[in-house]
Amino acid sequence: MGNTRRNSTPLSLEMVKVLNQQVALEALSSAKYLAAAAWCGSMGYDNSSEFFFKQAEEERMHMLKIFRYICDLGGKAISPSVADVNVEFNSLRDVFEFTLDSEIMVSESINGIVKQARIENDYPTENFIQWFVEEQIEEEFVARRAVELFDLMGEDKLAIFMIDERIPKIAFSGHNGGEETGA
Ligand code: FEO
Repeated sequence: MGNTRRNSTPLSLEMVKVLNQQVALEALSSAKYLAAAAWCGSMGYDNSSEFFFKQAEEERMHMLKIFRYICDLGGKAISPSVADVNVEFNSLRDVFEFTLDSEIMVSESINGIVKQARIENDYPTENFIQWFVEEQIEEEFVARRAVELFDLMGEDKLAIFMIDERIPKIAFSGHNGGEETGA
């Protein structure tokens, strides 16, 4: 159909570009978490491995959400390719520090989309991306809490065992300061 109205998009070229960059970043995050899941599993850190498998799925869901948004608004979504994923870690702490760094990078990128939406008065995208702003608060909280466990408990074998047990119990309780809830 040569319907120009159907083929047009309210998204600017720059906005399509930054949204596609975010799609690629979410795909990379998913792959990073898969690598972390595999490494933890190979070391016998089963709870952490499970945690990272779930995170990998969540990141894929994030990727799809943005991908669909671009498509729904008539933009050209680009299916991402993923390369150069680190698959080697030195320790469990190393894995969670890697995770925290990665989530901080994602938050900065999401904030960049908010900024771009405001520059362009792109209200639909500003509204859409708010869900990710909230999501990143939670994801950074969980990653930071996990790293703090190593500061609290140390890194000897018993401490690592207990931290691995505790990882699935880290929970974000909204904006009341956050707390860990025991299962
Ligand atoms: Fe979807 Fe944790 O970034």
